[in-house]
Amino acid sequence: MKKLLVTGGCGYIGSHMVASLQRAGHDVVVLDDLSSGWRESSGGATTCIGDVGDRALLDELFRQHAFDGVLHFASLIEVGESVDNPAIYYRTNVAKTLTLLEAMIEHGVGVLVFSSTAAVFGEPCRPLIDESHPTQPLNPYGASKLMIERVLADFELAHGLRSVSLRYFNAAGASPDGTIGERHDPETHLVPLALQTAMGVRPALKVFGRDYPTGDGTCIRDYVHVCDLADAHLLALEYLFEGQPTARFNLGSGSGFSVQEVLDSVERVTGRRVPFTDAPRRAGDPARLVADAGAAKATLGWRPRYADLDTIVQHAWAWEQKRALL
Ligand code: UFG
Repeated sequence: MKKLLVTGGCGYIGSHMVASLQRAGHDVVVLDDLSSGWRESSGGATTCIGDVGDRALLDELFRQHAFDGVLHFASLIEVGESVDNPAIYYRTNVAKTLTLLEAMIEHGVGVLVFSSTAAVFGEPCRPLIDESHPTQPLNPYGASKLMIERVLADFELAHGLRSVSLRYFNAAGASPDGTIGERHDPETHLVPLALQTAMGVRPALKVFGRDYPTGDGTCIRDYVHVCDLADAHLLALEYLFEGQPTARFNLGSGSGFSVQEVLDSVERVTGRRVPFTDAPRRAGDPARLVADAGAAKATLGWRPRYADLDTIVQHAWAWEQKRALL
């Protein structure tokens, strides 16, 4: 049993992580400023409402709890917003993470799992993206995450802080027991938008671009179940607690689905139509992003449990239906 600090533990991926750490018997403390999370999402975990860039608060937390490690989810995540307002991305995702890392060093906490993203790669130059793929982010969001990956390599050399950066492809789905799920405000992600459109609580979904060089002309993404992501973090922690060195892993199912295929899946699962209109391409969207997650499988022993798109959509649908009744 480890004592762990989870920043952003009230957010979408963070809340699934907290549930999974607790199931695994760990003692979890959440730090979240509720800028995009929900207080009730961290379940029964001790939750401190505050800013991950607040050094005095971090010092107090680190003095109060003898943490064995940190899982750092708290960050801004909207690609478009990062293009319009880069300063808040560099301040929140880079500067505040540096404050967290300095506090960890000061208080002798030497293990970190960091939420990175497929956006570090930019326009892919081969069909499957492994860890050796060049990193040329197209937007400040991806750049901010890549900067921290670099900082983490430097911090291992300088301070012995060991970390695993996990580059998520398209996180989707919800806890199979229906207790937690995706809840962004505003929502920009395809799966929840399509489900809410099927429910009739949103107008027709805009398909951003039908002229991509893909089979049906819509963008292809690699949808990975949020609980499979949580599993990978548990394995990354084990890896680090075994004393292994800093590493980066791509996390995706390895299968690509087009926007149209996602809409088809939503129609199959819900039994309802998803009205849509064709819209121009969204700025910064690569045609195809699909992971080669071979390294996470070989090194961490990661085995995604819910690689099937309809299963991911089914879990997200159960959650959306429950939310509608809340
Ligand atoms: N899409 C639509 N209509 C919508 C919303 C999305 O057609 O209303 C399309 C997008 O253009 C894209 C696909 O659906 O082709 C998926 O879009 P999302 O917004 O759900 O996800 P992204 O692929 O843009 O981004 C996600 C994460 C980012 C991360 C990126 C890395 O949200 O944080 O994956 O691959 F950087």
